[in-house]
Amino acid sequence: MRKTVAIYPGSFDPVTNGHLDIIQRGAKLFDEVIVAVLVNSEKAPLFTAEERVNMIRAILAEQRLAVRVDTFDGLLVTYAQKQNAQVIVRGIRAVSDYEYELQMALMNRRLAPGIETVFMMPSEAYSFLSSRLVREVFTLGGSVEGLVPRLVEEMLRCKIEGRGGAGE
Ligand SMILES: Nc1ncnc2c1ncn2[C@@H]1O[C@H](COP(=O)(O)OP(=O)(O)O)[C@@H](O)[C@H]1O
Ligand SMILES: [Mg+2]
Repeated sequence: MRKTVAIYPGSFDPVTNGHLDIIQRGAKLFDEVIVAVLVNSEKAPLFTAEERVNMIRAILAEQRLAVRVDTFDGLLVTYAQKQNAQVIVRGIRAVSDYEYELQMALMNRRLAPGIETVFMMPSEAYSFLSSRLVREVFTLGGSVEGLVPRLVEEMLRCKIEGRGGAGE
């Protein structure tokens, strides 16, 4: 039988425990999950694509999952087709995610009818967690312990302190 490959795309700026929850659930369901880090987006990221990829790889290295980490640019469905993926995984938190995700899923279906989008819910503990919130809270001196892996906390510390309060 053909193996089912799923793409889990996103900015992952930085990866959070919510993302990892979805990756673990996806890895149970599909033969292979490709975590695809978006390189160029309209958002100016805190971490470079390379830093984001390296963090995810280092964190996943401790777990024995059929997960690969890659970068992509441009149209998601084009990338998915190149990878012979049949599924796009997206995480849904609150109702507020739904409208945008529905739009994207239906557009992607129109562009590539052979690819299905699958929505997954994280543990409720991570339902209100976003990378943006992590960046904001950390930048303002709050604790993000338990919301991101230790390595991400350390990387945030380096990044924010490295800026030397230049006020970007
Ligand atoms: N805490 C979380 N729990 C579950 N899914 C999440 C969480 N945070 C983000 N996601 C999902 O992970 C995917 C990637 O999110 P993100 O890194 O913000 O990239 P994007 O720029 O595509 O929104 C999206 O499907 C998003 O809904
Ligand atoms: Mg997002």
